[in-house]
Amino acid sequence: MRLKLILYCVAFMSFLTIAGQACFGGNEERTENKKMKYILTELEYPVDALEPWIDSETVAIHHGKHQAAYVANLNKALESEPNFKFDGSVEALISGLDKVPENIRTAVRNNGGGVWNHTFYWRGLSPEKSEPSPELMAAIKESFGSFEELKKQMNAAAVGRFGSGWAWLGVSPDGKLKICSTPNQDAPIMGEAVSACNMIPILTIDVWEHAYYLKYQNRRPEYAECIWNIVNWKRVSERYQFAVDKKKVLL
Ligand SMILES: [Fe+2]
Repeated sequence: MRLKLILYCVAFMSFLTIAGQACFGGNEERTENKKMKYILTELEYPVDALEPWIDSETVAIHHGKHQAAYVANLNKALESEPNFKFDGSVEALISGLDKVPENIRTAVRNNGGGVWNHTFYWRGLSPEKSEPSPELMAAIKESFGSFEELKKQMNAAAVGRFGSGWAWLGVSPDGKLKICSTPNQDAPIMGEAVSACNMIPILTIDVWEHAYYLKYQNRRPEYAECIWNIVNWKRVSERYQFAVDKKKVLL
């Protein structure tokens, strides 16, 4: 009898685990409980995995405090407008800001952008060395002339962004790779009218001071240069192919 009870408990716990994964998905989907809240997506690596290029304290605070605050403030903004019943992903939410009620649109733009941009940033980095796919490398050479020139232009976008924002590499409608930068938490997926970028992003560099100040202080160019040591080229190559084939962004 006791054994049966234990087996039932194990089966029930397994069900809860699977159901939990289905609900949360690690992809900022709003949970399927009554509260309908977004949750913070976990990092794919430990906080010290990007050392020595990005220190563990920066990653821990950046993800666990800054990104977490964007998640909390996005939920708060949506809760303040209960008549706006949206239960899709953050990506879908910020891709259609014109459908968001005007009184919470700025909060959703800033905090929804803050949530999605950071997840996109973290997933574009990795401690494991990888190389651009042959297709992506060919596109880099066609669009920029060389890999070094891509780095130069991306770093210039990162350094040249006044104040806080993001540098982006993406696929433009003509299929070529382009670079642009956005202020605050704006993202190319918000559309050209909002972000002034007409591209499907495949890589980003966060140039808010909180991304680098503990280690690099005011040396943003050094931080931008160091990012190239930890780019997750495997995923960026997948994103490139997805953008070319499906005309959609891949988180
Ligand atoms: Fe950030």
